[in-house]
Amino acid sequence: MMNSTQPRRKRGLVYLLAGCFALLALGSLSFAVATALEEHDPFCISCHTAPEITYYNRAYYALDHPDEPIPDLSTLHYRAAQAADSAPFKCIDCHRGDGSLPHRLTTVALGAYDALIYLLGQDDPTIEKQGTKTGWLANASCATCHAETLLRLDGINNHFHTYLPQAKEAFSRSGALTIGAGLQQALSESGDPPPADLESIAVQLLCSDCHQAHKAQPLAADLFFMDSALRNTACVACHMVAKAGPQDVRELSGQ
Ligand code: HEC
Ligand code: HEC
Ligand code: HEC
Ligand code: HEC
Ligand code: HEC
Repeated sequence: MMNSTQPRRKRGLVYLLAGCFALLALGSLSFAVATALEEHDPFCISCHTAPEITYYNRAYYALDHPDEPIPDLSTLHYRAAQAADSAPFKCIDCHRGDGSLPHRLTTVALGAYDALIYLLGQDDPTIEKQGTKTGWLANASCATCHAETLLRLDGINNHFHTYLPQAKEAFSRSGALTIGAGLQQALSESGDPPPADLESIAVQLLCSDCHQAHKAQPLAADLFFMDSALRNTACVACHMVAKAGPQDVRELSGQ
């Protein structure tokens, strides 16, 4: 004999499954929509009006005025892409992290959280914020594009990059160390073999602790957009962990 509650339960299960699929489809649809939208700079500034629209304005002004000085590191990237005739640079190129699934999910979740803050009108009006809570995400982007810089051994000339844990990570991804001119010369004089591995110091430094992404410092363009006080603090932070090298910013001032 058939139990009369069985078809009802079955139907319930079908509705439940259908509901789950609908939610899943909706979820991946909004994921896909968010992913497509964030590829466009005007989308970012549809919310990031004052003050961060400044970042957008600087970038697009610089593209239209190639002879004027570059105000910040973010804008330098837009100019570099233009000069190289490659695909136009976009905000998301620096803000997506390393492109891995966890970073992708973080980016979309952050977007959803930000949309909520936006709707509640709780956004922070300061410009050129530093040390933001999600700064690590943008910093993961730097290391994916600039592995070459991180993996160029050149003694003291590039030790501030090669000792970073990010360099070790880049090394484990590609394993491609190169030797800079200074070290090349030293090695040929000493006859020592080139190093085959990378030594790293366990210090938590972000690229943006030295290279500020959005801080206007046109006079620092030749210094790769580093504020010398912030940079020296970062240098010393590593020396203190390493227990080697200058231990006080006063020993570095004037550099
Ligand atoms: C739906 C509106 C909206 C859109 C679209 C949007 N944002 Fe945001 N975003 C916000 C709000 C609101 C905050 C929180 C700001 C605050 O706390 O002051 C935020 C914060 C941020 C932060 C800082 C997070 C932190 O750690 O403090 C970054 C970086 C950011 N957005 C980048 C972007 C980029 C890049 C785009 C385009 C790909 C974008 N946003 C598109 C609304 C938006
Ligand atoms: C060169 C890479 C780079 C580019 C290009 C870039 N950003 Fe950023 N951005 C960063 C980094 C790194 C931080 C984190 C700074 C920190 O936390 O110290 C950041 C922080 C931010 C923040 C949060 C802090 C603040 O100042 O409000 C916003 C908003 C933001 N970016 C928006 C944008 C927008 C809009 C664009 C495109 C016009 C853009 N970014 C292009 C690297 C970049
Ligand atoms: C999508 C790839 C990409 C990302 C992400 C990226 N960069 Fe770049 N960056 C470039 C390219 C391309 C150039 C111009 C060519 C060059 O000099 O290497 C450049 C130039 C630079 C320069 C100037 C180099 C010079 O010789 O003048 C600095 C400094 C720099 N980037 C730092 C950063 C930092 C810090 C971040 C993260 C906040 C970052 N970049 C994120 C691709 C990227
Ligand atoms: C402790 C400070 C410090 C940190 C942290 C740092 N840099 Fe640098 N960076 C420098 C200095 C100093 C120079 C200038 C080197 C020179 O004068 O040749 C530089 C130059 C550069 C350049 C341009 C010249 C070159 O060697 O290619 C790039 C690109 C760059 N850094 C990327 C990065 C990235 C990506 C990160 C994060 C993984 C990072 N930097 C972290 C100090 C730092
Ligand atoms: C990620 C770690 C790290 C960072 C960042 C770093 N250093 Fe160093 N530094 C070291 C270590 C380790 C030594 C000890 C010498 C060695 O082993 O190469 C050192 C040594 C030095 C020395 C002494 C060199 C000698 O021959 O005795 C100077 C000068 C120096 N660093 C300058 C700087 C400056 C300037 C910066 C910032 C732009 C910086 N360092 C950033 C790790 C770092």
